[in-house]
Amino acid sequence: MEAKIKNIKDQLDIQLKKCKTVQELNEIKVRFFGKKSELSSLLGKIREISPEKRPIIGKLINDAKQKIGQAINHKKRELEDIAYQTSLEKELLDITMPANVPQIGARHPIYTVQEELEDIFSYLGFEVAEGPDIETEYYNFDALNTPKNHPSRSIRDTFYTKSGALLRTHTSPVQIRIMEKYQPPIKIVAIGRCYRNDKPDASHMPVFHQIEALVVDEGISFADLKGTMDYFVKQMFGVNIRSRFRPHFFPFTEPSAEMDILCVNCKGKGCRVCKGSGWLELGGAGMVDPSVLEEVGYDTEKFTGFAFGFGIDRITMLKYNIPYIRILFQNDLRFLKMHRA
Ligand code: PHE
Repeated sequence: MEAKIKNIKDQLDIQLKKCKTVQELNEIKVRFFGKKSELSSLLGKIREISPEKRPIIGKLINDAKQKIGQAINHKKRELEDIAYQTSLEKELLDITMPANVPQIGARHPIYTVQEELEDIFSYLGFEVAEGPDIETEYYNFDALNTPKNHPSRSIRDTFYTKSGALLRTHTSPVQIRIMEKYQPPIKIVAIGRCYRNDKPDASHMPVFHQIEALVVDEGISFADLKGTMDYFVKQMFGVNIRSRFRPHFFPFTEPSAEMDILCVNCKGKGCRVCKGSGWLELGGAGMVDPSVLEEVGYDTEKFTGFAFGFGIDRITMLKYNIPYIRILFQNDLRFLKMHRA
């Protein structure tokens, strides 16, 4: 019996020496400790031993069991230490390795220009207003005095939703939303995206940006419009840039005009940017048509107003020397980095 027990311990020592992983150790534990282990079967046989010898053998077996348990626990700790050590080595930080440089975002030039515009007009006492991109026909056309058969309403020009709403084709509906809510004096600018069913080319995209200005008060005249525009142009492009008005037509202004600025590139000589004309078209303007003021319930005997709306994409292209409008919408990181503000 003693020999057998000694043999078990020797076996265990050999196996523990070979054992490399916790999993192997668990298997060893089962083999030496489990119900089918030699030790268990020895314990089972204890009844066959004579009563006087029984306590001695019993003690022997129990001692052996304890020793085996200790040896296994010891080995277990050893293995865990090794595992911990290797994991530390694996996670070792090499602080001399080059770091992962995070991609730093940049403000889009459109928004830089947008902020600049807001600053210029805030300085003149304008408040910044907002309206939804998805509009109703009422705000985008009807309230702006646009006839039912006006070509701009057709699905060839305007994006309609299934429910009959539309993507606003200009920022002018914000005029109506503001006048509906507030009484004069009104002095607001509204900036935002607009949408038209245009074929993309060098200077057109189905989505673009506009800034709208609206002033309504007693005694507002065309001279106020011209003065405001002129101030704006000089702030934005420099004191040497002249602006001009050409007669035009809009359903919601009367009289109406289109505004040009002297070509920023050639200063009027004629070049590729202005297609030889020396002038660049900025947008539309005019005195708010009395029928629009009536629509929102303003007293047209008392109040007059002016409005203008022009494209921001064009201005951004001029300022950043961007040849194709598409570049503004492609989210090309190289472009954004180049113009990091
Ligand atoms: N809404 C017009 C357009 O998009 C521009 C405009 C605004 C004209 C305000 C007159 C007054 O073309």
